[in-house]
This record gives sequence, C-alpha cells and structure tokens, in this order.
Amino acid sequence: MSTPLAISDDLDLNLEQIIGQCIGILGIRGSGKSNTAGVIFEELLRNNYPLSIVDIDGEYFGLKERYEVLVVGHGEGVEIEIDTDCAEEIAQISMEKNIPIVLDLSGFLSDERTAFLSEYLTALWTLAGKLRRPYIIGIEEAHEFIPQGVKTELKELIARVALRGRKRGLGAIIISQRSAKVDKDVLSQAGMLFLHRVVHEVDMRVYSELLPWRKSETKEIITSLGIGDCVYINGDKILPIYVRERQTFHAGFTPSLEVVVTPELKQVSQAIIEAIEQAKTGKGKKSRLEELQDQLRRMENTLVEKETTISNLEAIARTLGYIKVEVPAPSLPEVQNISKAIVQSVEGKGLAHLGAQVGERAHPVSAGSFAPPVPVSERPFSTKTAVIEIEGSVEAPDDLPGAVRRHIDRVISRIAKQGIPHQRLLSFVIGHAPISYSVNQIAAWIGCAQGVIESDPPREFLDMGLLVRERRSDGLHYRSNLKGFVTQEFGVYQPDIGGGELHQITQCLRMRLGEE
Ligand SMILES: Nc1ncnc2c1ncn2[C@@H]1O[C@H](COP(=O)(O)OP(=O)(O)OP(=O)(O)O)[C@@H](O)[C@H]1O
Ligand SMILES: [Mg+2]
Repeated sequence: MSTPLAISDDLDLNLEQIIGQCIGILGIRGSGKSNTAGVIFEELLRNNYPLSIVDIDGEYFGLKERYEVLVVGHGEGVEIEIDTDCAEEIAQISMEKNIPIVLDLSGFLSDERTAFLSEYLTALWTLAGKLRRPYIIGIEEAHEFIPQGVKTELKELIARVALRGRKRGLGAIIISQRSAKVDKDVLSQAGMLFLHRVVHEVDMRVYSELLPWRKSETKEIITSLGIGDCVYINGDKILPIYVRERQTFHAGFTPSLEVVVTPELKQVSQAIIEAIEQAKTGKGKKSRLEELQDQLRRMENTLVEKETTISNLEAIARTLGYIKVEVPAPSLPEVQNISKAIVQSVEGKGLAHLGAQVGERAHPVSAGSFAPPVPVSERPFSTKTAVIEIEGSVEAPDDLPGAVRRHIDRVISRIAKQGIPHQRLLSFVIGHAPISYSVNQIAAWIGCAQGVIESDPPREFLDMGLLVRERRSDGLHYRSNLKGFVTQEFGVYQPDIGGGELHQITQCLRMRLGEE
C-alpha cells in the first residue's frame, strides 16, 4: 500500500517514490524553495523517514515545532554545539537510531563546512551500504558544494549519492538559487524537480534544458510563477503545481511588520543527547578549556615571531636612514593630462584637445570606450589590492547583539570572496550612493576596462540585493542598494532590533565596504 504525501493539492506523490531519489529544488531568492523543501521534510518526518538537512542559514530548526528533530552544529538555535571532528558519530547515530538531524552549519567557516560534510557524507555512504534502509539528505545552497565546472572531493561525494545512492536507499534533495552554478551532471540525474521562478537568462537556459518546451514557452511559464508555484517534473510527468505552506515555523520567512513568535520546540530524548555528548568526548578529545589554552599558546608564539620580525625591520630601516637614494622625478605634465582626461571623459567634455595633448603615448580618449593605463598614484580613487578587508578597522558597534555582529562579519567575508573588479565596483557605488553610474563611468573610476564589467557582471552582489542594475538610454547603470539589503538581510532580527540598529548596521557596512 502506498503512503500519500501532502505536498500540493495538485500532486499525487507517495513516500515510496521518494526512496533513493535525487530531488532538485531550484528558483530565485524568495521564490519558495526552502518552503517547498520544508514541506517535503515535514511529510517525510510525519512518516518517520530518516533524514539530515544541511542548513546554511539556520532556517530549519522550526521543524522541531512538531517533530523530534535534533539540531546540531554551530549557530543560533542549535541544541548541541559540535565541531568538525564528530561528523562520523552524528551520521552514525542518525542512520542507526533513525534520528532526523538538522546540521546547522551557519556558524562554521567555509573550510570547516567542507570538512564536516565530507566526513558526514562518507560515513552515510558506508553505513547505507551496510544497512540498506531509506535515508535522505537535504542540502541548502547546493551550488556552494556542487559547483559546475570545479572538481572537489566533496562534490564527488554528493554526486555519488545523487547518481548511485538509489541502490543503497540513499537520496538527496538539492536546493539552490543559482541553477546555472549547480553541477549539470547532478542536476540531469535528478529524477524529480521542483522548478520555481527564475529570471536570469543563464538560469532560464538551464530550465530550457530540463523542460521539453520551446524556449519562449518556458520563459513565459517560468516568469509568471508566483511564490510557492513551481513546475514539477518526474520522468515524463510535468505539471505546474502550488506547494502548500509549511506548517512548522519557517525561520527563513520574509520579514513583515507582524510580530513573529518562535514556537515551542519538541525536544529529542535525553538518551540521544547523551549519546552525542559522549561521541563528542569519547574520542579522547580535548575540553574547551584545553583547546583555548592551546590556541593561546599558538597566538603567543606568533606574537614572539612577529616582534622579532619588527625589530629586524627596524634595524634595517635605521641602516637605510644613512643611505641617500635618488629617484628620477616622473614626467608630471603627461601624467596629469592623462588623469584629467579620465575625469573629463566621465563628464563627457573637452576631449579632443586633451587627446591631442596626451599625444601618441596615451590611449585614444572617447566618451564611449575608455580604459587608459592610469598610474596608481594618480587614480581618482584608492585601488587597494584587497578592496574589502575581512578584518576591517571599523568594528560593528558593541551595542548590537552578538549574532548581528557575527552576521555582519559573514556578509563581509562573503563579499570579500568575490573577484576584485566586482569588489571595486561595489565599493565605488556604495561610497557614492545614492547616485547611479553607467558601466562606462564605473569602468573609468575604478580603473578597469568597460568590457570586463559588461562580460562579467557582479551577479553575486545583484543576487544578494546589494546592487541594483537599471537599463537607461545610455546603457546599464548600477547603484548601491545597501539600505534595502540591510532591511532584507537583517530584518530577521526584528523586533529585537529596530530601525535605529538597522541604521547602525547600514553605517557600519558603508564604512567597511564603501570607497572613501
Ligand atoms: N507556498 C507558499 N505559500 C505561501 N507563502 C510562501 C510559500 N512559499 C514561500 N512562501 C513565503 O515566501 C517567502 C520566501 O520563501 P522561501 O524562504 O521559501 O524562499 P527561498 O526561495 O528559499 O528564498 P531564499 O533563496 O532567499 O532562501 C517566505 O516568507 C515564505 O513564507
Ligand atoms: Mg531559502
């Protein structure tokens, strides 16, 4: 007898169809992916189907409102704090004792996440081979772990579950807002897909490959999907469906003015908690105090090394003080002409005579295309190599809650991971908000070829909502949307923080990100 799953009124789906499946849930931000995943998890948990959820944003602890789920990891709302080296034990407890687990990795650094997940998936794979019972693992922000075109050990582990897990009863739910960045082999192996709304051309192309419709038809249907609507694909079956809303608390909800109360959560039995605590210390691990003492010793050693380097450098500097160095003076008029030309090309005036003045050695100057080699000292804005520093000199204000300050740091480090031209662009428009600048202008100001910005737009920042792109009669323009971003990204902490704190966060980010 089959067990029906109540995912959507438009869909007949039963539990048996899920076993060993690779399920893909795709769509832009806010299209309803996490809700769809949450609904599937609710249905699986209602039927005691064992699972793990890799949660990057701390969105799934609300499942505890109705179900006995254990939340472990590093982040807000975890029940048991763990570090990366007990992944194997947690996987074992989850699979052998049938304990659903939410792995909240929001507080781990990227390398730690990778290490943890690699160990976790390896353990699940081995155990599934022995036990051969149904189990599924959900992975949020899957493009981070199975990126298209990059080979990593973790990617191979996830691909193996997606491609060959069925025989072991092991399935995967891959959730991503970056369809084009998810590995194509894994996506093409997904037996079941929930395709939410996308708008970017690159994502639409991925959908066109998954759907049998004409491109124009695909675009028309996909762009008209509302929140919670998606196209469901299972083999030959393709139908538009509306996925019901989650019954349990969705911590990733889009904030509104209503006051949100976190629900009471179900606790997992004490025996399980003790088993995990034992796993944590069972391997003769060091206590937290011992770890901190080790860390302190390492820091003291580093300090001694740095002090030695400083005194050596001071000695060298003192010696150099006696040496007279003569440097030929640069040919200033030419340098000044070129930099004037940049400024004027941006303002679109008096170019012809400057072109003549800078002579043959300068690049041709025109209002439309312009990328002259500008000496660093003469660039209109500073062009540090590391544009955005993770450890900035501007600290988040102390009176902001710790979680918010850590969140600010996470935002900064996410931004700092992007390419230098993108960082410069962001830094420039934030520093010059609220003015919107054309690609041509930005290219000149940040000292980068216009074509570089055109062929490789700052998608990550557009997706994050940090930047807004507008099409005008003179081409594409970018402007900062820092305030909107902060309201969206940090709104989740309301009502504990109010408008004043949101303003403080905006100011802090502006100082750390914006070009002075
Ligand atoms: N089926 C639905 N019915 C009603 N509201 C929904 C539905 N799906 C999602 N929502 C609401 O829409 C908002 C965004 O949903 P969700 O968090 O699932 O989006 P997402 O695609 O996961 O976004 P992100 O990429 O930012 O994680 C939430 O407030 C959620 O409660
Ligand atoms: Mg989501």
